Amino acid sequence: MTLKDQFEQLKKDAEAELAFLKDEKTWEHVRTEYLGRKGKLADLMKELKSAAEQEKPFLGEMANRAKRELTDAFEKARRNVTGKRNEHAAFDVTLPGATFSTGHEHPLTTMQSEVADIFRSLNFSVVEGVELEDEWHNFEALNIPSTHPARDIQDTFFVKGDAGEKGRRVMRTHTSNMQIRVMETYTPPIRAVVIGRVFRNEATDASHQHSFHQVEGFVVDEHISIANLVHTLQAMLSGVFQKQVTVRLRPSYFPFVEPGFELDFACVNCNGRGCSVCKRSGWVEMLGCGMIHPNVFKAVGYPRGTYTGFAFGMGLERLAMMRYGIDDIRHFLGGDIRFLQQF
Ligand code: DAH
Repeated sequence: MTLKDQFEQLKKDAEAELAFLKDEKTWEHVRTEYLGRKGKLADLMKELKSAAEQEKPFLGEMANRAKRELTDAFEKARRNVTGKRNEHAAFDVTLPGATFSTGHEHPLTTMQSEVADIFRSLNFSVVEGVELEDEWHNFEALNIPSTHPARDIQDTFFVKGDAGEKGRRVMRTHTSNMQIRVMETYTPPIRAVVIGRVFRNEATDASHQHSFHQVEGFVVDEHISIANLVHTLQAMLSGVFQKQVTVRLRPSYFPFVEPGFELDFACVNCNGRGCSVCKRSGWVEMLGCGMIHPNVFKAVGYPRGTYTGFAFGMGLERLAMMRYGIDDIRHFLGGDIRFLQQF
């Protein structure tokens, strides 16, 4: 091979290697191999010395050009691997633009604003509330006596510190605490809904988490009846599932309501015929509700016998699971991007 061919070959070899570079470290490595003091180019340069005298000017010029071209090729390759744009490179405006993904709302946030909007359209105020509560607001005022099992250390997260006038500090176990805080502050008529986080000291499984969200609603005025309760909840569920939903009440017990109910709705998946979502029963258990207990009105200082009201509480996750067909509550806070990207 003539010396000229050897220079050509060197260039080709270098270009072939540069095409597969992945990072700056390998670039540095390849550069030393070719352009380093003891590199391949330097070796070839040495051979120039032994060339015939009359060929030296020609060969010298060729060698310098090869060196320039190699240096350029390495510089270009470095910009490629470091991602720095080569300002002089041609810009092809016909190429499709780079797509980048943008973030979006978490499904729970979407669910939360939809529920809030539905209640606003029914003339409710949407209020926020405290998550760190005292025992009086979380339990006592809601007619849950200190002997009630829900207060047990098994269920409730107590926060360290001395008990105050209103008992120990607890992470609220439900949003019902806000019934008390709102009623303490306002006189009826009241229509309010609270959406927020609640905490329970329980083991995690597909339908339980130690922190989750509840939607609490309540209406207090003169002459509020169970019919108002049924209508409101039916309207809310019809809004969420965007079709007319049938509901039914079953008697149940919660200390802060009398009478108390559990509300089911006809399964929106199978229209009540029976499927895996409703466990073949045609009905889905949705929430607890009832007529506000006189002891609750007493606790907030309302005059006896003046007002009636209804209240309800439900899990926001449960609602979102029904709405989007999610089978495990742990997905919501699991942080798996593949789950979140589906919404
Ligand atoms: N606070 C109850 C719970 O955490 C839910 C509930 C039931 C809320 C009945 C209410 C109600 O307002 O009337 O399970």
